[in-house]
Amino acid sequence: MSRDNRHFYITGGKKLSGEVTIEGSKNSTLVCMAAACLADEDSVVTLTNVPDISDVGVMSEILRTLGKKITCRDGIMEISGRLEFAEIPRTLTGAIRGSVYCLGLMIGMLGKVYLGLPGGDRIGDRPIDIHLDSLESMGMKYELKGGVILASAPEGLQGRSIFLRFPSVGATCNVILAAARASGKTVISNCAKEPEIVDLANLMSEMGIKVIGAGSDKIIIYGAEKTTCRVTHEVISDRIETGVFLTAVSITGGEAVIKNCVPYHSYPLLSVLERAGIKIESGDSEIYVRGSDQIRPMKVTTMPFPGVATDMQPLLTVLALKADGESQITDLVFPDRFSYIYELKKMGAYVEHRGNTVRVIGGKELNGISVTGNDIRAVTALICAGLIAGDITEVEGMAHIERGYKDFIPKLNSLGAHIDVY
Ligand code: UD1
Repeated sequence: MSRDNRHFYITGGKKLSGEVTIEGSKNSTLVCMAAACLADEDSVVTLTNVPDISDVGVMSEILRTLGKKITCRDGIMEISGRLEFAEIPRTLTGAIRGSVYCLGLMIGMLGKVYLGLPGGDRIGDRPIDIHLDSLESMGMKYELKGGVILASAPEGLQGRSIFLRFPSVGATCNVILAAARASGKTVISNCAKEPEIVDLANLMSEMGIKVIGAGSDKIIIYGAEKTTCRVTHEVISDRIETGVFLTAVSITGGEAVIKNCVPYHSYPLLSVLERAGIKIESGDSEIYVRGSDQIRPMKVTTMPFPGVATDMQPLLTVLALKADGESQITDLVFPDRFSYIYELKKMGAYVEHRGNTVRVIGGKELNGISVTGNDIRAVTALICAGLIAGDITEVEGMAHIERGYKDFIPKLNSLGAHIDVY
């Protein structure tokens, strides 16, 4: 993560209104970049709608160390060249979570792996045991040494029936990537159903790799020895950025149109917002949102898709601060993702966290003070809290915002927020 020490200074009390355009999905881009590397050296895979964010820059660096050629301009990324090296140092993999996709990619394509453990947001325990167990059942041998995964597949990978004990997004992606080069058929049951998985499968199908069932809890992949292709794939829009702007507008009691999004991907969140008294109207690729001065208390549980996304949990807590009464938000995906609670308390919020649940009593005035966020959604939530606090809130955590959003502050300011950065 970059060491950008600039802070955000938010003058609260402004209603957000207008239009905002959503970028391509961060998480989808990262896994699609890995999938593009399944193509052999005569191929070119072009991804469009690629967000210009630092996580994508780090993933590009990682894939270049494997030998791939990557160019990116105005949201259009071209990936070509040969995947030839099997070593990625910890300094690179530790910067982002998406680096873990190189495990499935490299073991399938190269049969050997020297891979530093992945980094990413510190939102609790993030083991990769399901990834490792699944790939081991396909023929991967591995050891973990000094924060590095050393793996090989001496007899190649074999397609298997794999049951995931939790529908992990990362493990599902890794098995799909590895299975593309395994012999025979791989069947993954209890897999993740997130839109990013469907996007990955769509790209791979366009590349000529047979992937069936993505979006359901069973995916079948047929391995192939070679993948020669020349395809262009548009990355889906970022459903989390969509959710962030929906929430930011709602808490300020403003009104806006969120453009270039996929409303279907946000349905679980939209139903929470509507129950809370927020007015929502969905079109084909845009959502109209109008906040309310009387937000109803909510009881929300985050779950794997099609549940409400865990990434929205801190944002919904901030929304609950505006509600008239007691709300409860439970996180079933990352039960320790609550580092921001202490900071909200410092601002004067009545929030209590016990186990995987946060209890919020809304209606208290928030004070603008100095707070720090430790992960991307925590910083986002604190900035949103600043939008409804009195005086000026200073938020530390620029590098997290740059990891995941393009032009986040300019976009908020174009909607009427008053946020300075220095
Ligand atoms: C991805 C997203 C992240 C999102 C999350 C859930 C990327 C780069 N990150 O993270 O933004 O919040 O999905 O939608 O796409 N688990 C295990 N063992 C494993 C794997 C996971 O116990 O081997 C647990 C995790 O600790 C967590 C839960 O399963 O409690 C979900 O994790 P997972 O779905 O794998 O999330 P990520 O792929 O890490």
